[in-house]
Amino acid sequence: MIKKIQNFFKEFNSREDDEKRSGKIYAVTSLFDTPNEIMNASTEVADKGYKRFDTFTPYPVHGLDQAMGITNPLVGPIAFVGGILGCFLALLMIWWMSDANYPNIIGGKPFFALPAAIPITFEGTVLLTGIATVVGMLVLLNKLPKINNPLNDTEFMKHVSSDKFGIVIGANDKNFSETEVRDLFQSLGGHSIQNVYYRESNLTDKTPLFDSKFIMTLIAVAGLTALVSYFTLNYVLYEVVPFDWMRHQAKINSQSPSDFFPDKAGMRTPVEGTVARGFMPYEYKGLPDSAVRLLANPLPASKNILERGQDRYNIFCSPCHGYFGEGDGRMNDQFPKPPSLHNNKVLNWMDGNIYHVLTNGQNVMPSYESQISRDDRWAIVHYVRALQRSKNAKDQDLPK
Ligand code: HEC
Repeated sequence: MIKKIQNFFKEFNSREDDEKRSGKIYAVTSLFDTPNEIMNASTEVADKGYKRFDTFTPYPVHGLDQAMGITNPLVGPIAFVGGILGCFLALLMIWWMSDANYPNIIGGKPFFALPAAIPITFEGTVLLTGIATVVGMLVLLNKLPKINNPLNDTEFMKHVSSDKFGIVIGANDKNFSETEVRDLFQSLGGHSIQNVYYRESNLTDKTPLFDSKFIMTLIAVAGLTALVSYFTLNYVLYEVVPFDWMRHQAKINSQSPSDFFPDKAGMRTPVEGTVARGFMPYEYKGLPDSAVRLLANPLPASKNILERGQDRYNIFCSPCHGYFGEGDGRMNDQFPKPPSLHNNKVLNWMDGNIYHVLTNGQNVMPSYESQISRDDRWAIVHYVRALQRSKNAKDQDLPK
C-alpha cells in the first residue's frame, strides 16, 4: 500500500510537462549552486536596473531581500489602513446598535460610552488588520492565487525547490533582452540557463481570481451551499430527534391537559407531607388554646425586636384592636368590636396562646399566618406583652 502511494508520487513528480508551450517568452531562468553565488547574482541583477525578477531558494536565505533591493514592503501601510478601518467600523457598529437603532437603558449608563466599547473595538481592529495583511500580501502584492504560472512544472522549479538556487528575469521587464540576460547569467556563474515560454492555453499574466468563469463557479458554489444548508436544517433535520428545535419540544402550557398522566392533569399535586423549603409548619393548627400552653417565644425581648413588633402591630392589628390594644381601632362599627387585650384572660395567657390566635385565628378574627412571618408574629407577641405591662405598670417598672 505504502509502496503504491510512493510510486504514485514518484510518477507524478517525474511526469513530463505535457502542455504545449507557445513561442511567447515568459522569462529566462538560471540556476546557481551556493547561497553566496545567489546573493552576489541578486545584487548584480538589481544593480543592472532589472525590476521584474525573482529569486528562488530551497530554504530561507537571510539578507536576500536586501540583496534584491526590496526595501519598503507595502504590507505595513496596508495593515495600518486595515486596522484604522476596523477600529472605526467597530465603533460605528456599537454606536449604531446601542445608541441609534436599539437604545436600551442599562443601570442608568450612557447609551454609548468608550470604556464599554473598547473590547469590541480592539477585536474589530485586530480582525481587519489581520485580513488586510493576508489579503494585501497574497492578492494585492503577490498577485496570488496564480495556478497557471508558466514556471510551474519546469526543470528550474524542481531544482530550486530541492537542491539549487535560481533567478528568473521576466520578459515583461522594460530592460529585457534575451541575449543580454543570458550573457549576464553566464558572467555571474549561472548554469542551466533556459527560456521559459507561456503555455498555449494561457498567454497572459492575469490571475484567474477575476476570471468570469471562476467568479461564476464561486457564486454557484456559495448559492448551492446556502440552499443545501437551508433545506437540510429546515426540512431534513427538522424531524430527526436529536436535532429537533427546542421550541417544538413536548411541554404543557398552563391550564392545558396532559396526555401523559391518566388523570389528564398537567400539574402534579406534591407528595403528601411535602414541605416547602424554608417553611415551618404550625403543628397546633386547628387545636384549642390549651394545646399550646407550652409554646415559648423563641425571640429575645430586645429593643430591635420590640420595635419590629410595634411596627407590625400598628400595621396589622391596630385597625381593630387600637394602637394600645383597648379594642377601639379605626374599624369600629364596621367589624365586630374585639375585646381589650388587657382583659384578665389575655393577661393570664401564656405567650403561646397569643401566638396561637395570630396563627390560627379565633372565631371572627382571621388567621394572620400568610400575611405575617413566623418571627414577626413572635415579635408582635412581645409588643402585646409590652402594651399590657404599660397599662398595668407597677412602681418598680418606672425608671429610677
Ligand atoms: C379585623 C379585625 C382584627 C384584626 C386586624 C386583629 N384582630 Fe385580634 N381579634 C379581633 C376580634 C373580633 C377578636 C375577638 C374574636 C373572638 O370573638 O373570639 C380578636 C381576638 C384577639 C385576641 C384574643 C382576645 C381574647 O380575649 O380572646 C388576641 C390576643 C388578638 N385578637 C390579637 C390580635 C393581634 C396581635 C392582631 C394583629 C396581628 C390582631 N388581633 C388583629 C379582630 C381583629
